[in-house]
This record gives sequence, C-alpha cells and structure tokens, in this order.
Amino acid sequence: MSGMGQEATPVVRKDIPERYDGRLKVMGKATYAAEFPVKDLLYAVIVQSTIATGIIASADTRAAENASGVVKVLTAFNAPKLPMPKPQPPATRSTSLLQTPDVHYNGEPIGVVVAKSLAEAQHAANLIKYRYKPGISQLDFMGHLDTARLPKRAGNAPAKQDHGEKDRAWAKATTVLEETYSTPLQNHNPMEPHATIAEWDGEKLTVHDATQYISGVRQSLAKTFALPLDNIHVIDPYVGGGFGSKGSMWSHVALCAMASKVVGRPVKLVLDRTQMFGPVGQRPRTLQKIKLGVDANGKFVGIQHDVLMSTSKMEDFIEPSAKQTTMLYQCDNISISHKLVEMDIGVGTFQRAPGEATGTPALESAIDELCYKLKMDPVEFRLKNYAEMDPGEQKPFTSKHLRECYQQAGDRFGWSKRNPEPRSMKESGRDGEKLIGWGIATATYGANRSSAQAVIRLMPNGHIFIGSGTQDLGTGMYTVMAQTVVEELGVDWKTVDVRLGDSMLPKAPVSGGSQSTASVGPAVKEACNQLKLKLAAAAVLDPASPLHGTETGDLDIQDGALFSKKDVSKRETLVSIASRSGQAIEAMGSAEPGEDAKSQSSHSWGAVFAEVEVDEAIKTVKVRRIVATYDIGRIMNRRTGLNQLQGGLVWGIGTALLEVTELDKHHGKAVNANLGEYHVAVNRDVPDIDVTVLDIPDAKFSPQGARGIGEIGITGVSGAIANAIFHATGKRVRDFPITLDKIM
Ligand code: MOS
Repeated sequence: MSGMGQEATPVVRKDIPERYDGRLKVMGKATYAAEFPVKDLLYAVIVQSTIATGIIASADTRAAENASGVVKVLTAFNAPKLPMPKPQPPATRSTSLLQTPDVHYNGEPIGVVVAKSLAEAQHAANLIKYRYKPGISQLDFMGHLDTARLPKRAGNAPAKQDHGEKDRAWAKATTVLEETYSTPLQNHNPMEPHATIAEWDGEKLTVHDATQYISGVRQSLAKTFALPLDNIHVIDPYVGGGFGSKGSMWSHVALCAMASKVVGRPVKLVLDRTQMFGPVGQRPRTLQKIKLGVDANGKFVGIQHDVLMSTSKMEDFIEPSAKQTTMLYQCDNISISHKLVEMDIGVGTFQRAPGEATGTPALESAIDELCYKLKMDPVEFRLKNYAEMDPGEQKPFTSKHLRECYQQAGDRFGWSKRNPEPRSMKESGRDGEKLIGWGIATATYGANRSSAQAVIRLMPNGHIFIGSGTQDLGTGMYTVMAQTVVEELGVDWKTVDVRLGDSMLPKAPVSGGSQSTASVGPAVKEACNQLKLKLAAAAVLDPASPLHGTETGDLDIQDGALFSKKDVSKRETLVSIASRSGQAIEAMGSAEPGEDAKSQSSHSWGAVFAEVEVDEAIKTVKVRRIVATYDIGRIMNRRTGLNQLQGGLVWGIGTALLEVTELDKHHGKAVNANLGEYHVAVNRDVPDIDVTVLDIPDAKFSPQGARGIGEIGITGVSGAIANAIFHATGKRVRDFPITLDKIM
C-alpha cells in the first residue's frame, strides 16, 4: 500500500511514528466506558418488548423483585416521571424512558432491572411477566409502498430539487434507463457495544458513556433531568467504534441515570449484541427509482432519483440516498425526492455515510447499466459527464481532483485490459469454471466542518498538554492532535500529552459526518499559534530570556524553540521557558469554517475498481481485488488515514454481498440479531486492497487542507462490486446485498 504524493501547496508534514494510543490499546490499558472502576457499582439490564405495537396492560414484577441480588425493578408503572419526558436535543433521537406503557417496536426498552451482579440482573429480567394489548403492526415495507409520504420536516435530506426545463430536456434523450434498486435495513455493529456508567453526587451526574458526542449527551441529559449543564459530566476517552449509532443519546443512557438516581448508587448498563438491533438506531431500508437520460453524444440530459425508505412511526428519519445525485455528474436537469414508509420498527439513524452508502450503489449501478446500453466504457462515460462545478448548488468546488483518481486507480488496476463483454473473462480452476468480472464506481462524501475549540498548556516540565472535548472512535483523533502540535511547535511527540473525551474540555462537535479532523485539527493549530504569541510576548519582556528585547513580530517557533527570525542565534527552548516560568502557560484555540467553505461546495472523491470471481456452478462471489484512489484533500496521517479508507472498503464488501437485518414480518423482531447470523465481511471475505490518496490539500476548505475520511470509504465500493458481478455473470442484481440466490 503506497501513496503517490502530489504536492500542490507546501505544508509542514511531520507524521508521528506510531498511533498515539496504539500501545495502550494493544496492552489493554485504554479504558473504555464500561471498564471504569467505580465503587459500590450495581448492574442494570434493559428489558425489551416482545410485540411490535400495543400497550402494556400490566407488568408482574414480583418474582423478579424477589430474585437473588435484585435491588430494583423499574417499569412504566413505577418509574419516576421525568421533568422532560420527550427527546431532548441535540443528541437525542426518540427514546423510551418508561414514561408511558406504549410499545412502538419489538425490542423497545420497557423495563430496567438493577442487581448486584450482571448475571442476577439478567436472570431477574426474564422473570417479569408483561401482559400486552397488542395493536396491528405495519411490518411489511414492500406491502405498504402506497402509503409513502413526505417527511414532516426536511431533516438531513436535501429538499426536492428540480433544475432545468424538465420536459424539453427529457425530449432530447436518445437513450433512457429506468430501473429500481433496493438496499436493506442494517444495524451498526461496532466492536464496543453501547455502555453507560451513571453516578450521582446529589444533583450532579457523572456518566461514562460510549458515545461519539460527549457534549451532546451532556446537553441532552441536562435537559432530560432539567438540571444545569454544569451538573453533568460526560467522560469517554476511548470509543470502540460507533458508525453513527453512538452519535445520538438513546434510551439506555437516560435509563441508567434514572436507575442510579432511584437506587442511590452508581449503576452500569451495557447493551448486549442482540440489544443493539432496535433500541440504538438502524439504517433505513430503501427502494430507489433511478431514471437516466443521455443525448446522442452520451451526455446527461436528465437524472431522476426518487427514494422510498422505511421510517419508525416514532420519528421521521431520512436516509438521503439521492443526496450525491444532485452534484456527482454534470446535468442541467436533475430531480430527486425522498419519501417515507412508516413501520413499527425502531428509530432510523445515521449509519456510516448516511445517504451515499445506499445511494452510490444504486446510482453507480444505473450508470453501469446505461453504459452497456450505450456500448461506452464506464470510465469514459464518467469523464464525459464530469461536473466541473456543483450542478445542484450551482457553486464551484473548493477542490476536486476526481479525474486523477480515475486515472491513478485505473492504471493500478489495469482497467485498459478489460474486455467489456459480460462473461468474457473466465478461468478454469481446480473446482470448475470461474467467471471473472471487473467493475468501477465513483465514491464521494461531503466535506463537513464545524466550530471547535482546544486548550494547550506548556507545562513546567516542558511537556505540552493539548485538550479538546472531541472523541476518538479508534480512528486517529489522538494521533492527529499530537501530530498537529508536533508540526506547529516542532516538539518531540513523546512530550505531547493529548486529552479528549471529557466534557470539561473545550467544546468540539459530534464525531460524525467525517468532520472531526477537519474541525479539531484547525483548532489545535490555532491553539499552538496562540501559545506561540503568548510565549513571545512574555519572552521579549523577560530579562532572563535570551530573547529579551527582540520584537515579538520577529519571533517564530521551530524544533521546540522560540527564535528570532532576524538573528537566529537568539533562541530559547520551550523547555527552558517552561522551567523558568515554574507554572503552566495556557492558551486557547478556536476555529470555524471560513468564508470559502461556506460559499463553495466541498466534497471528497474517489474511484473504486473491483475484481470478483463467481463460481459458475454454485454462484458464490469472491472479491479478488479492490483498487481505490481518493482525493480527500491532505491526508493528515497515512497510518490512521489509509487504514480508515480500508475499513470503509471492507464494510462496502459487506454492503455489497452480506449485510442485512432480517425482520420477522409478524412480530417485527430482528431474527438475526447477532454477529453469527448478521454477516459482516471477515478476513476470509477481504482481498488485497490497494488504497492510494492524491494528497492534494484543499486550502479553501481549511487551514490544514484536510477533508474528513471516516465515511467515503464505504461509498462507491458496493456499486463497483455489483458492476463486476454483472460483468462476470451477465446477470444484473439490483437488490442489495447480492447473495448467491439472487445470481442463480
Ligand atoms: Mo457518522 S454515520 O456521521 O457517525
């Protein structure tokens, strides 16, 4: 795996030699939310509904209450009334906090058992007898398409867009493709399940919570319990993945705090794997109708992308699958829409690349189908319809080098050697005939950035403390923060102490939307700059400093020392300044999106090529090679960055071939709610993955030029695999995941 760098803007680059948190993690010394040692701790479990719709008529809790070790059983009939029983922003999706006896989906939290041990809590949970008055449930998505409606509020979806002279434009089409694609309900399965430890001290609440959004959980808890913000402290230094499900505060967090308050002792509540399917969000199921029209020159004259998706009746959530369609290719006549089909299921939520992850497989499959109709090479077609500016927003891009991605990845893959004819590339193997297929798709994800703050302290021992209330999902935030300090101040990375994941630290945004590096990196950079100014101002006035009497404007920092640009013999190391000062010297940094980022369109780009082999006899699909090149602005750190892109590509293999949550149509229960039957790509499914990045800084987007990379990796790839399967077999499967029964 190597990158072929291309330097457009000179930037200081100092990769630190290892993952900042790598050693701690491999030694088991990184403490995750559920692992904090807390005295007098009790264990809670949630109890879940076994019907999809209805009302709980009664709950017989006597056996549970009398069971060994049980301290408390809470249901809708005895739970304390919360001052703010409705979901509280910013981090809360609709929650179930035992405030009413209503049941909205199978698996909804309807009780909490607190006991002296986890085993005792789990045992007692099984002893509660609920009586329901069941309602009539709507659990068949395909059977209720006629009920689709517009979302009650626009939410995260782009509004319906119509550009151009619709009918006149479509009349120019010489080739039209119209097909429907579908993607399944999916559940997030981070390695670390959701987990909360809640501890009250009077009216003050401390929670260790597995979350992507400590400041959001803090605000939502404060509002839910009607407490001042300062009374809530949220801590989460390490997160074992989140993928969007930890971007909201779900029921168990508030229930854990409620239980702890009731029993007057600290309580730990961890969801088990099965409980991750329903109560903590899921990716909606989609049905996407795509219509593409091109003129005789192979240029788009019309693009339509209309999406139907499942939603919980509790809350509208939009999976914006047509989002990328408004800007990925040049066309003056683009229209999109998103409509919801209500079901009695848990609330939908963001899952890695919400929108693009489901939308690009559909759009990129449709384009591939169109190219076969046109007998045109799919790379050539994409170049012919290349968008030089954002056609939906009618804005220039801050930076776009997608052409180079097609070129670089195509060369590395050997695309020019492809015979476009389906079923033309065969190999005979030991076990019979193998059909080989090559496919390509475009990857894209929006570049997001929010305001963020950081604090920096030069400590008396010469170490640098850098802190920000951000999160590290295992993706590299610690490393990027340390690296930014090293780049800005030139100090040894081992003297940089990074703190994050604590709501006492200066505020940073949710670690979602691939925005953390792009938001927090510039804040850390600015904190370094402010520290430099502060040290310079002090040094010129201090007779004990070699810099005494110099001009602050002439001072700069390099290699861990402040020096005069006019007379480089005048310098003083940070260690010397620190020890002379005897106390910590502190500065704050704050950064927010600049004017260019607001007035222009910022996205990341990529080209993904896939090779599959399909067993002619039994139709098993094996992905043999993936070659992908991305334009993600500057890559901050190759070790963590390329690894994230690879992780996204691995997930894309699962999206293409494996992942689906199967709902029982009668009871609404996820029947494969475990990692044995909910298939994600494992080592055996993952081939050689060749990832490169162009590494061209997007200077208009941010001072570091880095756009986010958490999500783009999952986009495009499943379309490339679907297209490769068609090329191999001549069979087009439009219903993801592409399991072997669909290729038969
Ligand atoms: Mo991501 S789905 O924005 O955590």
